[in-house]
Amino acid sequence: MERTTVISPADVEQQLEHCRAVARLTAQWAQKPLAFVDTYGCQQNEADSERIRGYLARMGFGFTDSEEEARIIVINTCAIREHAEQRVFGNVGALVHVKRRHPDTLICLCGCMVQQPHAAQRLRESYRHVDLVFGPHALWKFPEMIRTLLTQRGRLFSVQDEAGSIAEGIPVARQDRIKAWVSIMYGCNNFCAYCVVPYVRGRERSRKPEDILAEVERLVGEGYKDITLLGQNVNSYGKDLEKPVDFAALLEAVNAIPGDFLIRFMTSHPKDATQRLFETMARCGKVAPVLHLPFQAGNDRVLQVMNRRHTRAEYLEKIQAVRALIPDIVLTSDIIVGFPGETTEEFEDTLKVLEEVRFDALFTFIYSPRAGTPAAQMDDPMPREEKLANFNRLTALQDRISEEKHAAYVGRTVRCLIDGRSDDERYDLTARTPGNRLVRINGDPSALGQFRDVSITGANKWSLFGELV
Ligand code: SAH
Ligand code: SF4
Ligand code: F3S
Repeated sequence: MERTTVISPADVEQQLEHCRAVARLTAQWAQKPLAFVDTYGCQQNEADSERIRGYLARMGFGFTDSEEEARIIVINTCAIREHAEQRVFGNVGALVHVKRRHPDTLICLCGCMVQQPHAAQRLRESYRHVDLVFGPHALWKFPEMIRTLLTQRGRLFSVQDEAGSIAEGIPVARQDRIKAWVSIMYGCNNFCAYCVVPYVRGRERSRKPEDILAEVERLVGEGYKDITLLGQNVNSYGKDLEKPVDFAALLEAVNAIPGDFLIRFMTSHPKDATQRLFETMARCGKVAPVLHLPFQAGNDRVLQVMNRRHTRAEYLEKIQAVRALIPDIVLTSDIIVGFPGETTEEFEDTLKVLEEVRFDALFTFIYSPRAGTPAAQMDDPMPREEKLANFNRLTALQDRISEEKHAAYVGRTVRCLIDGRSDDERYDLTARTPGNRLVRINGDPSALGQFRDVSITGANKWSLFGELV
């Protein structure tokens, strides 16, 4: 692997020149150029798709949800679990019919999945209707690749293994007008034994604080109310910068930006979550009282084999420390059930952590072997049924806890951000508590984007229900 490269402003400007060239081309098409961008995976991928859309908009494209109408189809993929990959291959396979009906349509695959050699090879050999394949490292060159494909025949693959790059100045077309993602760093250095992310996203590299602050200032000026700072391990932000800054200092600086908005961040790695971070969170009024702190497993032997570099006791100490400073903090976590060699007895230590911490919500996963990771080589004797049974015990316990925690909101009045339209037809709108719990309410869409007092009138294990005060 090479070291991180900083893409120069001149290189990004050259990509924008490619955008203008494509825009001149598409302006001559008989039909309005439309693109379809489909995103799998995490917020990092959502943020990347907003940059792809930003570039496409500069190339003169509008957007559609129909693959039939689109002249460019981009599928931004995820590799975190087998299931994510199967869905992509299934959907890409089905696009062969679209390509047959519309041979001019460009089919592009990008993101984490295609950065894996086995996936790129499979696309090369068995999915010949796919025109362009590029990994996260090549995203900044998207306009150049599209220009090449629109002016020459053939397929293009850009999936070299790299430590990764940082590029500023790529246009962003955001999907939401209230909530915004801001990547503060890319990549991961942790190499948890089960995880593919360090292999596909490269090494940790941080954006300069001044670039991040300028972006947040701009967003607040545009009326954004909810800013999420993104990174695989935000607590190690800044370690690679010439003038090192830590994440707490960055948080403090974002908090000092004038305006009425909330700051969230994810993800924090327990080994790097410090007292200093918790104190900063407690002191900074705009930082939302919520912490997503994945612990993956409750047993120390399993944690060690996972290469998480913290023990269960250390994790619980951090939880205690943050609660001592922010008593009503909302806590969420990620858990893997069925890591290779985890016994049911060891799994029960995970249940104990749930009882002890009483998280507000969890993201729970059954272990999925990923090619090239150490865990994929480990003995994994537990039958799938037993893993499933354990998984069901875990979710049943968390459902009970979530329901109890949600019930405690009933009768309270909470200042919430009205953030969207409700998909549940009995309610008009959705709102978020400062801790990001979902509240369904009735009210006029003109309230969208406002912070309003909501009186909580009901709850179930998934969400809260309330009325505007
Ligand atoms: N950087 C974040 C997590 C990124 S991936 C962190 O360290 O917390 C999101 C979650 O997916 C992980 O926390 C983990 O719980 C889960 N995950 C990652 N690899 C997995 C695998 N191979 N099988 C099952 N779950 C996995
Ligand atoms: Fe994966 Fe671990 Fe990095 Fe998170 S910290 S992205 S789980 S390797
Ligand atoms: Fe995210 Fe999936 Fe990549 S979880 S970092 S899109 S592997």
